[in-house]
Amino acid sequence: MKITFAKHALPPKGILVVFAGPGPKLLSSAETLDEKTDGALSRAMKVGKFKGKYGQMVSLYAPQGSGLDRIFIVGTGKAEDLTDLKIEDLGGKIYGSAMKAGTSVSILHDHIVDGPLSDDACGAHMAFGLKLRSYRFDKYRTKEKAEAKPSLKNVRILCQGYTAARKQFETLDKVAEGVFLTRNLVSEPANVIYPKTLAKQAKELEALGLKVSILGEKQMKKLGMGALLGVGQGSSRDSQMVIMEWNGLPKGTKETKGPIAFVGKGVTFDSGGISIKPAGGMEDMKWDMGGSGVVIGLMKALAGRKAKTHAVGVVGLVENMPSGNAQRPGDVVTSMSGQTIEVINTDAEGRLVLADALWYTQETYKPQFMVDLATLTGAIMVALGQEMAGLFSNNDQLSKRLTDAGKAVGEEVWRLPMGDNYDALIKSQIADMKNVGGRFGGSITAAQFLERFVNKTPWAHLDIAGVTWSSKVKPTVPRGGTGYGVRLLDRLVADHYEV
Ligand code: BES
Ligand code: MN
Ligand code: ZN
Repeated sequence: MKITFAKHALPPKGILVVFAGPGPKLLSSAETLDEKTDGALSRAMKVGKFKGKYGQMVSLYAPQGSGLDRIFIVGTGKAEDLTDLKIEDLGGKIYGSAMKAGTSVSILHDHIVDGPLSDDACGAHMAFGLKLRSYRFDKYRTKEKAEAKPSLKNVRILCQGYTAARKQFETLDKVAEGVFLTRNLVSEPANVIYPKTLAKQAKELEALGLKVSILGEKQMKKLGMGALLGVGQGSSRDSQMVIMEWNGLPKGTKETKGPIAFVGKGVTFDSGGISIKPAGGMEDMKWDMGGSGVVIGLMKALAGRKAKTHAVGVVGLVENMPSGNAQRPGDVVTSMSGQTIEVINTDAEGRLVLADALWYTQETYKPQFMVDLATLTGAIMVALGQEMAGLFSNNDQLSKRLTDAGKAVGEEVWRLPMGDNYDALIKSQIADMKNVGGRFGGSITAAQFLERFVNKTPWAHLDIAGVTWSSKVKPTVPRGGTGYGVRLLDRLVADHYEV
C-alpha cells in the first residue's frame, strides 16, 4: 500500500474520509461538503446515530453534489483526549473499514483545533496506523480470489502541514518496515525458517549499513556454549548465533558507557525435545523464535531510520527436536559462563539458549544495558493473558523506561517480582542449577535462571509468549504475528539512548 501526502483540498472525486468531533460537529471541510450536498452528511449522521465519538463511523454512497463515490465520516471524540497512539488506532480503524471499498482513498485532515497534536503529527501518525494495519501474510494462499483480498492500494493524506507530515512519516515508516519484517519471520513455517535461513535473513540487513556476523556450531563449541548447543543437538539443522551491530553515533562521539544490547530467543521450532509437547497446538511453536524476530526487526528499524545510537542485537538460533542425538532429561551441560546446568525438562529450552547468548553479549560488548526478549513461558499467559508482556529486571530505571515506552506506543509491559526465595527454587542436587523450578511461579523462576547469566549489567527480560501472536484483530495489528516489541524498544531508544 502506497501512502502519499498532499495539499489540503476537497477532492472532486473518489472515496473520501472526513472527520467529526463530539456533537456531532463536522470539521470545517466536512461542513463545506455537507453544504455542497444539501445536508447529506448531516442526514447520514442522524440516521446512523453518529455522535462523533472516538472511532465511531458512518458512510454514505455517492451523495448528490459531491462528485464523490463514497464518504466515510469518522468520529474523533474530544480533541483534547487525542494522543499519537489514538490517532494511529484511528488510522488502523479507517483501514479496517475502507480496505475493500476501492483502490484509492483520500483522507481529508482538518486540523483538530483544540487538540494537543500538531497537524503534521496527526497526518503522520494516522498514516502509520493505516500502514501497520495493512500488513498481510498471504504468500502461501495461492487460490485466494482477488475479491477476497483488500483492494486498497493508495492512500492520500490531505492536510495543511503535508510536507512536515510526509517527513515525520518517513521515520515512522522505517519502524513499520521493522515491524513487518518481524511479522514475516514469525509467520513463516519452521520448514522455511530454521537457524541457517533465519541467520541469512539477518545477514541481509547489511544492505542497511549494519555489521552482521554469524557463529556456527564449531565456533560456539570453542566458546564453550554448551547450554545453547545442547538444545540444538537433537536437530538435523545446525544451530547459529547472529550478532548485528548498528553504530549510528555521529563521528567523533565519545562512547563512555558501551553500546545498548538486545538479545533474542530464536527457537525456530520447539517440539519440547525428549520432554515432548502434546500434539494439540504444537504448530504454534513455529513462532518460538519471536524474541529473535523482534531483535532482527528492531535492528532493521534502527538502521532504517538512522538512529543516533550504538546498538548490538544478538540472537541464539536453534531447533528443539527429539532424536537419537537429542539432549536427555537429567543431562548436565556446561554454559559459556562456566556454570553447570542440570536439564530436568528439555522443553525449558529457551532459558538455556539465552544463558549463553546473554553471557556472550555481556562479555563481548560490556553493554550499558541488556534487554532480552523471549517467548519463554506458558505461565506468563496465565498471569497476564495476551494483553501485556511480562517484565523482569535487576534495575528500576530501565524498568520504568520500558514501562513508559510501552504505554506510549501501546505495547505495554507489567513488572513481576524477583528475589532470593524464587532463586532458591532452581537449586540442583548435582549441578550449579536446574533448568526448571516447581509448578508455581514458572515465569519468575525462568527469569531467575536468566539472571544467573547477568552480572551487574542493568538487564531486563521481556516474556513475550502471550503477545507475539494474536488470534484477534486490533486497530493496528491484524491477526497473526504482532511484531510486539519493535515499537516499544524503538521508542525506548528514541527517548533515552540517542545523542
Ligand atoms: N516456548 C515455550 C513457551 C510457550 C508456550 C510460548 C506457549 C508460547 C506459547 C517454552 O519453551 C516452554 O516450553 N516452556 C515450558 C516451561 C516448562 C517446561 C518449565 C512451559 O511454559 O510449559
Ligand atoms: Mn519449550
Ligand atoms: Zn520454547
